[in-house]
Amino acid sequence: MPAPSTPSVSELPVPDHAALPDPNTFLRQHVREGLSRPFKTLSSMYFYDDEGSRLFQQIMALPEYYPTRTEFGLLTHHRAAISQALRPQDPAESFFLLELGAGDGLKTKILLRELLETGASFTYVPVDISAAALEGLAASLRAELPDLRVEPVVADYADALRLMAGRPGRKAVLFLGSNIGNFLPADRHQFLLDLAQPLTPDDRLLIGFDLQKDPRRIRAAYDDTQGVTAAFNFNLLHRLNRELGADFDLDHWQHYTDYDPLDGAVRSFLVSARAQTVQFKALNWTVDFRAWEMIHTENSYKFTQSSINQLAEEAGLQVANFFTDEQDFFADVVLRIKN
Ligand code: AVI
Repeated sequence: MPAPSTPSVSELPVPDHAALPDPNTFLRQHVREGLSRPFKTLSSMYFYDDEGSRLFQQIMALPEYYPTRTEFGLLTHHRAAISQALRPQDPAESFFLLELGAGDGLKTKILLRELLETGASFTYVPVDISAAALEGLAASLRAELPDLRVEPVVADYADALRLMAGRPGRKAVLFLGSNIGNFLPADRHQFLLDLAQPLTPDDRLLIGFDLQKDPRRIRAAYDDTQGVTAAFNFNLLHRLNRELGADFDLDHWQHYTDYDPLDGAVRSFLVSARAQTVQFKALNWTVDFRAWEMIHTENSYKFTQSSINQLAEEAGLQVANFFTDEQDFFADVVLRIKN
């Protein structure tokens, strides 16, 4: 757990898209609650509107942002062994390959190709909250891998986990890209418990973890020289201006990020460069910011092999295979429920 003084996003209202159709309601609640705290905070979950998703695509191609290309390389290099670790030993036995937060599926296609080429019998179930992203993925899969059975599901992680629990048959669940690093430790623990709960001993999880390394390299990945990550962070304020009628003046906000080797967390902030008051028309509300007061917007945890073993163990899981790249920058870890 982070120290008690560390701003926590975990207690903020978590959207349940199935229960309430208007996502703006959650954004309103979230903003009111997060900006009323002694240390103001907003969840990185709200980065990903259309513009935020476009900026994240740009981040993944930045020279400083090593995680995506490293994971791509390691999946390419170990594709045979990883596919072998995920699929049933009997090639005739069919299974579901579920992917949480599928996005553009670029990395997953490496495994999909390998599984198809080696005669695996499976259905790919990409899960994403963005219907547009899933439509794009399904179209590219139809064109590139016409023999693949695909059942896309528009859902958040919680709904996807419920869906998974109701599905009989073997499952392999993918959670790539170090998305696990964006959870606070308590939320991560709960997420892994929820993931583990419906698994049978034959099921497998493949999770991507960004590993601890040269702290300067980590910090640079979240503060690139072209300013794309800053634009990604600022987009949250643009979003509040647009969706909640706020009047954040972007000329008086800064992007700041720091890596803390003590707990392996990169934390990102929006910094108020002067004392200012921001009005939220849609909330009939104003918020005062002191000069240099910050809004905590993101956590990005980095792991070690032993911290991964430990968090698996705490969730009733065990590491079945640990795949990493030549530089030990990133790991794709196959997990199963503990014997
Ligand atoms: C989505 N997630 C794994 C990214 C990360 O590295 O934490 C989000 C990101 N934030 C800034 N750069 C990338």
